[in-house]
Amino acid sequence: MTEPRGQWSGRLGFILAATGSAIGLGNLWKFPYITLENNGGAFVLVYIGAVALVGVPIMIAEILMGRRTQMSPVGAFKAMAADRPGGAAWQGVGWLGVLAGFTILSYYSVVAGWTIHYTWLALNGHLSELASDPAVLGNYFGNEFLASGPQQVLYHVLFMGLTTGAVFFGVKGGIERVAKILMPLLFFILVILVIYSTTTSGFGEAIRFLFHPDFSTLTTGSVLEALGHAFFTLSLGMGAMLTYGSYIGRDFSIPKAALQISFLDTLIALMACIIMFSIINTSNIEVNKSATILFTTIPTVLVKLPGGGLLNALFYLLIGFAALTSTISLLEVVSSFAIDELGWTRHRATLTMGSVITVFGVLNALSLGGHGALSSINLIGRESTQGVFGTMDYLASNWFLPVGGFLIALFCGWVLSKATTRQELEEGHGTMAGYGIWSFLIRFVSPLAVGAIIVSVILGKEYQ
Ligand code: PFF
Repeated sequence: MTEPRGQWSGRLGFILAATGSAIGLGNLWKFPYITLENNGGAFVLVYIGAVALVGVPIMIAEILMGRRTQMSPVGAFKAMAADRPGGAAWQGVGWLGVLAGFTILSYYSVVAGWTIHYTWLALNGHLSELASDPAVLGNYFGNEFLASGPQQVLYHVLFMGLTTGAVFFGVKGGIERVAKILMPLLFFILVILVIYSTTTSGFGEAIRFLFHPDFSTLTTGSVLEALGHAFFTLSLGMGAMLTYGSYIGRDFSIPKAALQISFLDTLIALMACIIMFSIINTSNIEVNKSATILFTTIPTVLVKLPGGGLLNALFYLLIGFAALTSTISLLEVVSSFAIDELGWTRHRATLTMGSVITVFGVLNALSLGGHGALSSINLIGRESTQGVFGTMDYLASNWFLPVGGFLIALFCGWVLSKATTRQELEEGHGTMAGYGIWSFLIRFVSPLAVGAIIVSVILGKEYQ
């Protein structure tokens, strides 16, 4: 006997869950750090362009396929490609998505787990002591916390437990419920921190850095990096949006939803930058321009501000919430595959897949210890191939997502008939004036842009 397929309770449930998937460590960690590295202004503009011209069209394509077939990626490709050129071979894109979900989740959850530890450290006052000296905190993070296998495993397992718990209770009862609680909270904490940052002396400078473009600082590498990041941050290329789209009803505008999700994702990435740059500019400490900035530099500055202990706790709670709604979507891609393709019940699928990924992630967690750990942590970074952790990350963000996104764009732009895509997009939307624009972007702009990322990776040109 098969269980009835899940459905969101309505439009809001879907928007919040999908926005939750998009907003994550990519926004709160990676985006501020690569914006710093790429000199702000012009990079931010290019990034916004990449979201609008490449991200939004691919997101529309994914949701379209999900809603049309009411299936997860493997089944969706199988069904839609059945009578098209290439036939069953297209289901490989779905398999790639499942592999990407598995791979990303196994390291993402390790980093997400750190936020539990840091929230706890902030609440019990220990973080304030450590953070009073940047060298002490840096040493603690790199040589004590990361090097402690048991701690790394513990927090990873805890985070996977939370993730599995949410997915276990299903689309409406678990995923949507968690998103409906965490997303407003996340927004609320962000607004408090943004208001706070407007009172700091570094605020004006942060705004200038972000919104006054200087195109002379822009390199080809920056453009490719902006493009690659647009992809990861919008959860595209592995069927997460496709899977979430398979739980929506037919009375629902897909283009509007994709625009809303992408807008919110970008807004929150920019808010994160405003907060972090204001904080950093306010102090005169040397900025650690590395991926570890979140766990080394930020607390040392926050702790000097009034109410610093509490601000630190709020800050890590925020990042943890954002990460949880993303890990949930990663696990949902893998679990829905087992539910739809293997005929498993949701409970069996989530418990099994959750456990397997947890065990696999333990390898990642343990690979952080010891020498060179700091330099190998470059979440969704382009260069790091050290250790299991770095390899997972490299494979997923350099290969799986861009290749998946490229194939999704080709499939929806060239393999499916225009009549099919137009009909699906107009359902719940009405006559779509922008169909021609979408069709142009998905046929030409997206494949070319994503193709450029893939070629640059093949040629071994690094992003930075
Ligand atoms: N979008 C998430 C972030 O920005 O952190 C990461 C992510 C989640 C990527 C889910 C892919 C995915 F399917």
